[in-house]
Amino acid sequence: MSTLGHYMIDKHGRRMRKLRISLLDACNLRCFYCMPEHPAFKPQKDWASAKDLMHITRNLVGLGIEEVRLTGGEPLMRRDFEEIVCELSTLPVKKLGLTTNALLLAPYLPLLQHTKLQHINISLDSLDAENFIRITRRDVFGAVMDAILTAKAQGFTVKVNTVMMKGVNDHELSAFVEWSATHDIPVRFLEVMNIGVMESQFRKRFLPASDMMAILGTDYQLSALSNMPDSTARNFSVSNGAKIGFITSESNPFCTGCSRLRLTPKGQIRPCLFMEEGIDLKPLAPADYPAALAAIIAMKPIGRILHQPQPMYQIGG
Ligand code: 5AD
Ligand code: SF4
Repeated sequence: MSTLGHYMIDKHGRRMRKLRISLLDACNLRCFYCMPEHPAFKPQKDWASAKDLMHITRNLVGLGIEEVRLTGGEPLMRRDFEEIVCELSTLPVKKLGLTTNALLLAPYLPLLQHTKLQHINISLDSLDAENFIRITRRDVFGAVMDAILTAKAQGFTVKVNTVMMKGVNDHELSAFVEWSATHDIPVRFLEVMNIGVMESQFRKRFLPASDMMAILGTDYQLSALSNMPDSTARNFSVSNGAKIGFITSESNPFCTGCSRLRLTPKGQIRPCLFMEEGIDLKPLAPADYPAALAAIIAMKPIGRILHQPQPMYQIGG
């Protein structure tokens, strides 16, 4: 561990080693469980600049952050995305990842080949073009699927994230398992979280991972794979060759092993997805970071906070 690493360990022994940077709240899809049909996005002038992000991330990496993931909203909608990735690629991080809906991904792939960003998680909630429209309110399934397969063919480490909901896409569980085996792409099934716009229909739509596993258990055998202690997914290999995972944010939250900090589009560091308190890191000098982080880490909850009215796209998935 680095000599500075102790600033990043909380009183429960959790060491912060992952940073999720939400680059903006805007998105080019309108997934019904994430945002309203006509969301009010925050003005662009509020976003932390590429320079701010670089300054902040460099300081956090100096204190022990090892993995950085860019998310949103839809991170590829930032016009300075290329600059951000190229700058962050110069930092000594073990892993630089991207979470995207892939709609704008294909044209970025040649550029990304030459950066540190090699891990791409893609949100895809349906394998059926009609159902995709019902969920995302946009008719762009073909472009998304093409981009996923192109990224995989070009050698990126691609994973698919699928939010599974009762009566929405749970009939596609087996189709995803077949798709995963066919394309050699792991699929992680996410429990929908009771957050933001989901709060009114959570009971109707929530499908616990245990139910997903029971449904799949009738057709497949699942063998548990070993997990990193701070992994958010429980991973399995499937008898047909698929690799799948379950992210049990609601039924079995991973707070006790959580190693994540979050940076909002404005450059505010937050202790948890479910907390709106944070500290603006933009104006801080490197010498101010240890105290700011100690304050943030002390706020990190040890168990799941039940109520988060702020919509997901504003916090960053
Ligand atoms: N529950 C679970 N996942 C969600 N996402 C957005 N809203 C929710 C929610 N209420 C996911 C997206 C994407 C990631 C960034 O966050 O589907 O995979
Ligand atoms: Fe956009 Fe992701 Fe929210 Fe869908 S879930 S609207 S892709 S931010």
